[in-house]
Amino acid sequence: MEFKNKVVLITGAGSGIGLTTALAFAKEGAKVVVSDINEKSGLAAVSQINAEGGEAIFVKCDVTQYEDVKNLIETAVLTYERIDVAMNNAGIGGEYQRTAEASHSVFDKVMQINCNGVFYCMQEEIKVMQQQGSGVIINTASIAGLRALPNSLAYVASKHAVVGMTKTAAKEYATKNIRVNALCPVFTVTPLFDPEAMDQMKAGISERLKQGIPMKRFSTTHEMADATLWLASDRASFVTGIALPVDGGLTA
Ligand SMILES: NC(=O)c1ccc[n+]([C@@H]2O[C@H](COP(=O)([O-])OP(=O)(O)OC[C@H]3O[C@@H](n4cnc5c(N)ncnc54)[C@H](O)[C@@H]3O)[C@@H](O)[C@H]2O)c1
Repeated sequence: MEFKNKVVLITGAGSGIGLTTALAFAKEGAKVVVSDINEKSGLAAVSQINAEGGEAIFVKCDVTQYEDVKNLIETAVLTYERIDVAMNNAGIGGEYQRTAEASHSVFDKVMQINCNGVFYCMQEEIKVMQQQGSGVIINTASIAGLRALPNSLAYVASKHAVVGMTKTAAKEYATKNIRVNALCPVFTVTPLFDPEAMDQMKAGISERLKQGIPMKRFSTTHEMADATLWLASDRASFVTGIALPVDGGLTA
């Protein structure tokens, strides 16, 4: 039980990568603060963790609302007294449009959730981690934080911002025993990345994306959870400020 009695907070934990990672931390003995804007899926995640013998609470939080984020962090500390690991994972994909046609309102929404949300969460988490003298933060970025992804300008902008914020905070707190890293998933089958839905928008696109990955397959949420647990563990004790591609060789 690598995370026995550690407190792990995850945003966007009601679905996809966040949900699988929350379940994996709970299996390793962590007390998990499950957070999501979607109350139903967040509560279901807590029930699943409890049913598997784990410990978790749900705190509803829209990461674009700073007051919500403050309440999330306060509730986590009131309940479990500390936050050892925080995974800032809540995110949306936005629209599939070329730059000239991209909607301003979608751009603003994607930046609010994917970029501002990570900023607000890190700010409050770091305050707690500084007080307790340690902590690990993992921000879910994307391979779109490392390279271009045509027709996804807002998403790419938001994920490059996540990588930049991760590196900056990592350097700022490197002597304070706080590590900050970014996870950069390739296409991972979740409600956010649904190959069938993509093919309905543009026939054959999912197969083309898959063939672009050297391993010729999409990732699973378990592969993202495994990488996150490693980044969060003492086995990665000298790792800070990296943007870790978990991508079947795409960015090689
Ligand atoms: N699935 C992929 O292919 C892929 C690839 C690279 C990066 N990512 C990133 O991984 C993260 C998780 O994505 P996923 O694929 O598991 O998607 P998902 O849709 O399954 O899960 C995202 C979760 O975030 C929550 N959420 C959305 N807006 C929110 C808000 N304002 N406040 C709080 N919670 C909110 C949703 O309710 C949902 O539970 C995202 O940051 C995404 O950009 C995903």
